[in-house]
Amino acid sequence: MGDKSSRLPGFYKRPLTERVDIVAEWANLNDDDKTVLLGQGLSNELADKMIENTLGTFALPLGIAVNFLVNGRDYLIPMAVEEPSVVAAVSNAAKKIRAGGGFHTSATNPVMIGQIQVLDIPDMDVAINAINANKADLLETANCCDKVIVNLGGGALDIVPRPFPDTPVGPMLVVHLHFDTRDAMGANAINTALESLAPEIARLTNCRTNLRILSNLADQRTATARCTIPADQLATEDYSGQEVAKLIEEANAFAVVDPYRAATHNKGIMNGIDAVCIATGNDWRAVEAGAHSFAAKDGRYQALTDWHVDDNGDLYGEITLPMAVGMVGGATKVHPTARTAMKILAVQSAPELAQVMAAVGLAQNLAAINALATVGIQKGHMALHARQVAMAAGAPEALIQFVADQLVAERRIHVDRAKEILKGNR
Ligand code: MEV
Repeated sequence: MGDKSSRLPGFYKRPLTERVDIVAEWANLNDDDKTVLLGQGLSNELADKMIENTLGTFALPLGIAVNFLVNGRDYLIPMAVEEPSVVAAVSNAAKKIRAGGGFHTSATNPVMIGQIQVLDIPDMDVAINAINANKADLLETANCCDKVIVNLGGGALDIVPRPFPDTPVGPMLVVHLHFDTRDAMGANAINTALESLAPEIARLTNCRTNLRILSNLADQRTATARCTIPADQLATEDYSGQEVAKLIEEANAFAVVDPYRAATHNKGIMNGIDAVCIATGNDWRAVEAGAHSFAAKDGRYQALTDWHVDDNGDLYGEITLPMAVGMVGGATKVHPTARTAMKILAVQSAPELAQVMAAVGLAQNLAAINALATVGIQKGHMALHARQVAMAAGAPEALIQFVADQLVAERRIHVDRAKEILKGNR
């Protein structure tokens, strides 16, 4: 893999089937994978086994982001997303980041948090002491259900009692189980462990337990990506690179201080991360919940990123967020397109997948705030939107770009106008 570059100049101009051939060659895909990519992904039969009351499937475009260099390794990034310009923008940002040596990433061990709610507490301190005094036995109980994860080096690591003396339903003790889920997202493993632990906790504390469920605020399972972009990479016709770097720093500061802006800023980050989650069959709602709750961890919702001009005048960027993603189990193994996407990514572990996703989030954010701080977001969006409008108006393949260009030039991106252009009313 080390000898392959994810710089694929002109990839976007190739016809779809050629792109599939290029990626197949790059990622050593077989003919079955190619068939999957070319439209034979999830069958109705398989879909019927995955959820209830199935009627069929719902397809999304699957694209490939190029130019990603993460810890010295090249990756092609599969992204399932309906929004135009997400894939192009992230590829473009990754190219600028590549010029500064690419992304440097790290991840914690894949430690999920599970929660047990304890109620009817006669004495909070006695309950807490009982849990702390029996920690070793409790960890053993938590480990008894999933020997596979334990044998792989994962399993229960810690038990942490968290008292809430004053709640609307009286004193409450929340017991956290920290559980290393290895390469699984781990929802099933940790929920099973919690259900076996709860009766033991109730017995030891002489209290009653209610909910037993993982927490999506997976702050023990985070991924970090960092990059430095040489200022000259950011130069445009209208601005010097140093000016753009400063504008990006200002854009980030906006999202640090103002939750209204932070919500949109972080939404842009998740445009990229969700797309990789969906492509790889991961639970994007879990990752979304983790990201947004983590963004509010200091009591105020804020940007997940830091961008600032460094001492050399270059642009430094960093992101850290919870990343509860897996590469075994669930849709990742069942959905044929997710399996092929995982082959393209070729990650070796869940933490590696988490790091790549953090890099995608950082690049997606750079793309957005770089555009917002300079030309504005609409220019690029409109060019792509115009293609969709041209298609909606019935433009044949050969005329889509022509019609789209004219719509953009006239700044009238409407289906009616596209139809007029197609009728020869130019
Ligand atoms: C649009 O999907 C995402 C952006 O709004 C993100 C941002 O504003 O940073 C462009």
